[in-house]
Amino acid sequence: MNRKIRLANSNDVSAIAEIAVKCFPQDYISMNSKLDKNEVSRNWIEKHLLMEPFGFITVAEQDNKVVGFGLYFMIGGLSGVMHAEQIAVDPNFQRKGIGSNLMIESENILKDYLLLNLDTKLKKIVLTTSSENPSSHDLYKKQGYKLVANLGEMFFSGDEIMYEKVI
Ligand SMILES: CC(C)(COP(=O)(O)OP(=O)(O)OC[C@H]1O[C@@H](n2cnc3c(N)ncnc32)[C@H](O)[C@@H]1OP(=O)(O)O)[C@@H](O)C(=O)NCCC(=O)NCCS
Repeated sequence: MNRKIRLANSNDVSAIAEIAVKCFPQDYISMNSKLDKNEVSRNWIEKHLLMEPFGFITVAEQDNKVVGFGLYFMIGGLSGVMHAEQIAVDPNFQRKGIGSNLMIESENILKDYLLLNLDTKLKKIVLTTSSENPSSHDLYKKQGYKLVANLGEMFFSGDEIMYEKVI
């Protein structure tokens, strides 16, 4: 078994979009009924790739297949504070340590990339997750994230809980 974490490129868009729709079906509902979820997801991923070096997507590849991804962007100008918007692993590959690998390696990739391209240090990663998604809380806590706030009901049902990791 061969696993690696790397920056995504345009060849990865369809694979990432498929995982995103499986893991976050509620996020890809378009007001334009002509677009299906996969198309909305592909658009979102494609546009996000154009944000480099202010936004990044990393992928987990296992035996040459993309099985997970992390989607990050910088907030506060060139602050060095990144927001982790989505971390997702294909349901068929979950609970094998891939989500943890993604978070650890993505942090290293972001650190090196920011320093090289923007002369900026990675200071902090912040994220939010729903109180109704207990497995993600365990993943974040194991990766050294600290709970900083309960933001109340924001996106869907349940409270949105904010975590941060100071680098
Ligand atoms: C959250 C997610 C990314 C975890 O990915 P993963 O590859 O399964 O994670 P790991 O195998 O590295 O698990 C790390 C730890 O997280 C916790 N965890 C992960 N999945 C869990 C589950 N289904 N139930 C309970 N705990 C779980 C466990 O503490 C686990 O450690 P352990 O296996 O030693 O007990 C994955 O479940 C996922 O894609 N979920 C849907 C999308 C999502 O909710 N993303 C997070 C919000 S953006």
